[in-house]
Amino acid sequence: MILTVTLNPALDLTYTVPELKRHAVCRVSDVRVQPGGKGLNVARVLRSMGTPVLATGLLGGSTGEQVRCLLEDKAVLHRFAPIEGDTRRTVVVADKPGVTSLWEPGPMVTDKEWAAFLALFNGLSASAATVVLAGSLPQGLPPDAYATLIDMAHANGALTVLDADGLALRHGLKAGPAVVKPNAAELAAATGLSIETPSGAAQAAQLLRADGARTVVSSLGSSGLIVSTTEQTLHARPPRSLNGNPTGAGDAAVAAIANGITRGAGWSDIATDAVAFSAAAVVASTAGEVCFDTARDIRPHITVNQLPGV
Ligand SMILES: Nc1ncnc2c1ncn2[C@@H]1O[C@H](COP(=O)(O)OP(=O)(O)OP(=O)(O)O)[C@@H](O)[C@H]1O
Ligand SMILES: [Mg+2]
Repeated sequence: MILTVTLNPALDLTYTVPELKRHAVCRVSDVRVQPGGKGLNVARVLRSMGTPVLATGLLGGSTGEQVRCLLEDKAVLHRFAPIEGDTRRTVVVADKPGVTSLWEPGPMVTDKEWAAFLALFNGLSASAATVVLAGSLPQGLPPDAYATLIDMAHANGALTVLDADGLALRHGLKAGPAVVKPNAAELAAATGLSIETPSGAAQAAQLLRADGARTVVSSLGSSGLIVSTTEQTLHARPPRSLNGNPTGAGDAAVAAIANGITRGAGWSDIATDAVAFSAAAVVASTAGEVCFDTARDIRPHITVNQLPGV
C-alpha cells in the first residue's frame, strides 16, 4: 500500500463567470468542487492507476467533512486525523482572460493535534511500502514536520517520496528521503542556482543529494524531467509540448514515481512512466485526474538519455 500525506488539504472551488468584474455582482455559470492539496492529487492518480493507496493528513470543520465526502465519491480510501480548525478553501474564478485565485490561510494546528497525528501516522506507515509527503505545511507545525514523518516512516521500513518547497523541503532533506521531486523553480530556490537546462538541473540536483536526498527527480515543465541518483543521471522528455492544464502534472509524476519505486522498477522505466502520466495530467482538465489514452499513446515516443559527466 502507498500512503499519501496531505497536512494542509483544501476544498477547491472553481467558479466560471462570463466576465469577472470587481465591486459588482457576477453570475456564476459553472461551479466545480474538488478535493485539493498535492497529497490528495497523488492519491487520486494512484487510485485511478489501480494501485492500493490510503490518504492521510489533517481535516477539520464542515469543510473537512466535505473533503471526506468527495474522497468517498471518488473511492479514495482515507484515514485523516481530526483538527479543531476549519480546512481551507481555495477559490478559483475563471473568466475569458484568465483565472483569479483566492486562497484561505488555512487552520492553525495545535501541538496536541500534531501529536495525535504522529501516533496515527506511526501506525499507518507500519503497513505502507511507500509514503508520499506532498504539499505545504499548515500554520502551527514545525518546519521539520516532514523530517519527523520521514524518520518515522524509515523506522517502519517504508520508502519515502517528498514533494515540498522552501523550508519544508530544506528540513525534510536532512531525514534522507528516498526521492525528492522539486520542479525547476523549487530546485532553483533550494540551491540558489538558476536552472536553464536539463544539465543545469542535474548539477543542482547533486547539491540536494549532498544534503540528504537519495534520488532527486526534478520536473522541468514541457522539457520533461531529470533523475539524479548515485549511479546515473537521466533526462526523460515527452515527444512534444501538450496543450492543457499543467497544474497537478507534477503530482501525477509523483504518483508514477511512488508506484515505480514500490514495485522496484528501474529508473529509466520510472522516468518514462512519470513523463507519460504527467503528460496525461496536462491533457486532463482537473488536477488529480489523468487521461489514460494520452499516457498510452505517448509512452513509445518518450526518450530517455543519459546525461554525460554528471
Ligand atoms: N506542456 C507539457 N507537455 C507535456 N508534458 C508536460 C507539459 N508540462 C508539464 N509536463 C510534464 O509534467 C511534469 C511535471 O511538470 P512541472 O514541472 O510543471 O511540475 P510541477 O510544477 O511540480 O506541477 P504541480 O506542482 O502543479 O503538480 C514534467 O516533468 C513533464 O513531464
Ligand atoms: Mg509540484
